[in-house]
Amino acid sequence: MVTVTCIEDLRKIACRKVPRAFFDYAEAGSYSEETLRANRVDLERLRLRQRVLVDVSSRDTSTTMLGEKVSAPLALAPVALTGLEHGNGEILACRAAHAAGVPYTLSTVSICSIEDVAAAVSKPFWFQLYVMKDRGFVRSLIERAAAAKCSALVLTVDLQVLGQRHVDIKNGLSVPPSLKLKNLLDMATKPRWVASVLSGKRWTLGNLDGHVKGMEGVKSLAQWVGRQFDETLSWKDVEWIRSVWPGKLVIKGILDVQDAKLAVKAGATAIVVSNHGGRQLDGAPSSISMLPKLVDAVGCEIEVFFDGGIRTGQDLLRALALGARGCLVGRAYIFGLGAGGEAGVAKAIDIIRKELEVSMALTGIRRIGEIDRHVVVNDD
Ligand code: GLV
Repeated sequence: MVTVTCIEDLRKIACRKVPRAFFDYAEAGSYSEETLRANRVDLERLRLRQRVLVDVSSRDTSTTMLGEKVSAPLALAPVALTGLEHGNGEILACRAAHAAGVPYTLSTVSICSIEDVAAAVSKPFWFQLYVMKDRGFVRSLIERAAAAKCSALVLTVDLQVLGQRHVDIKNGLSVPPSLKLKNLLDMATKPRWVASVLSGKRWTLGNLDGHVKGMEGVKSLAQWVGRQFDETLSWKDVEWIRSVWPGKLVIKGILDVQDAKLAVKAGATAIVVSNHGGRQLDGAPSSISMLPKLVDAVGCEIEVFFDGGIRTGQDLLRALALGARGCLVGRAYIFGLGAGGEAGVAKAIDIIRKELEVSMALTGIRRIGEIDRHVVVNDD
C-alpha cells in the first residue's frame, strides 16, 4: 500500500482505479486547455513570504463561510457525475466533508439525488443549480433543495453554452452518451469500481430521474439536459431565482469586475471567482489573476470565494492572501473519491488542511483572520 502524502498521490491512484472516460471527464479542460493550465501556473507563481521567530504554537484554521463555522476555509465544489467516479460518490463526499467540518455542494447533475444525500447525512449541505429552460422544473428543484434544508443555493452562471472538452467526445461521453467499446473494456478491468457503482443507489441522473415526464434512463435524461441549457439566461432570471429562494445565494462563475458588481445588485450573498476549472471559456484569465480585482470591487459588500486549480494548502493560503474568504475544491477531492471512496475524500481534505496549517505557521500566521496580501511576496 502506497503512503499517500499529497493530492498528486490520490490523483495517480484514481487514474488507475477509475475508468478512463470518467477520470478524463473530471480532469479535462476545454479546447486547448490554456485556461486550465493558467489556473495552476499563476497560483504556483505566487511566492509565499517566509517569516520567522513568531510564536505560532497555537494555530487555528477555522473560520466561517456564509456564516457557517468551518474547520478550514474550504468547501467541496459541485461536480457533475460524482457518483460515476465511485458508487454513491455524492453521499460519501458529503459525509467526509461533514466529518471534517467543511461544506459540501451537491451538483444538479449528480447521480445521487438531493433526497438521497439528505437522507444519508445529518447536516445541511449546499445545492448547486443549473437553470434549465423548463422553469417549472427549476422551481421544483429549488423547492426540493429547500425541503431538504440545504443551507445555500449555488447558482452556476458560466455554463449557458458548453465549452468543448475534446477528450469527452473521444471517449463517447457526449450528449447522449455513446461510450466506445474500448471504454467498456476499460471498465471491465476496474472490478472494484464496477462493484462500487453497481452497489450504488443509482446509475442515472438522480435529480431528474422520475421528475421529468416521459424521460427515463441515462440516455434520454442526458439528452433532455443537453436540450435544456438555456442560452437566454440573464440577470432577470437571477432576480426570479432570488425571489423563489430567499436563503443564502452564491453566484458561481464570476470573472469580471462588472459582473461581480451586478451580482451584488442581484442580491448575492457571495460570489465564486471561477472559470469553471478551465472547462468553459478557453483563453480566459486564470481565476487567481482576477481574484484581487474582484475582491477590491465587491469584497466589502459580499463574501468572495475562489476556485480554480487548488491542489495544496499552499494554494489555499495564496488565494486567502489575495482576499478570498474561502475556496472551493473540485478535482482534488474527486481524485480522493476515485482513489478511496469516503476515506479518500477525507484524506484529500486532511492533506489540504494540514498543508494550510503548516504554511500558516511558516509565514508567521496563527489565525485565518491574520492572512492578508502581505503573505505573498512582492504584493505589498
Ligand atoms: C459541468 O459542470 C462540467 O463542467 O462538466
